[in-house]
Amino acid sequence: MPVQTHTFEYSLFETLEELSPSFQSLMQEAVLARANAYAPYSNFSVGAAVLLDNGVIVRGNNQENAAYPSGLCAERVAIFYASAQYPGVPIKAIAVTANTHLDPSETPASPCGNCRQTLAEYQQKQSTSIPIIFMGASGKIVCCNSVLDLLPFAFSAKFLK
Ligand code: THU
Repeated sequence: MPVQTHTFEYSLFETLEELSPSFQSLMQEAVLARANAYAPYSNFSVGAAVLLDNGVIVRGNNQENAAYPSGLCAERVAIFYASAQYPGVPIKAIAVTANTHLDPSETPASPCGNCRQTLAEYQQKQSTSIPIIFMGASGKIVCCNSVLDLLPFAFSAKFLK
């Protein structure tokens, strides 16, 4: 059987201070965004910060709804806002942080499947990879070089042709 393997490299940092200055400040923006999450149902606050090629940082956070599926994740709030306000401006990186209100976790919280698919769309639209960095409330930070690393065999526009 012709078994294939798929691997990818990522970095794991112990503290924010180990990150490059630009990733450090991007994660700090995500932490600020997290504080404004509207998460009364899950008590799970997520913050995202998107760094654009023009230097602008767009913040987003999860927005919940009494009709649960009507809410939206932090990553998509941020990236949709970025695309709506700055169409065509390449995305340089995204940082994500999550915090449970009752029991803050130090386990890096990786984006959900819907957000991975959404992030993949924007990377495929531009010619450069979008690095993604994520952490829990605090603690270790995972840095991936490309959002597509988190979504092998991603569905994309090429299948629609
Ligand atoms: N959430 C995010 O904001 N991003 C993710 O990638 C996963 C989940 C939000 C959605 C919901 O408001 C809460 O976290 C619990 O699922």
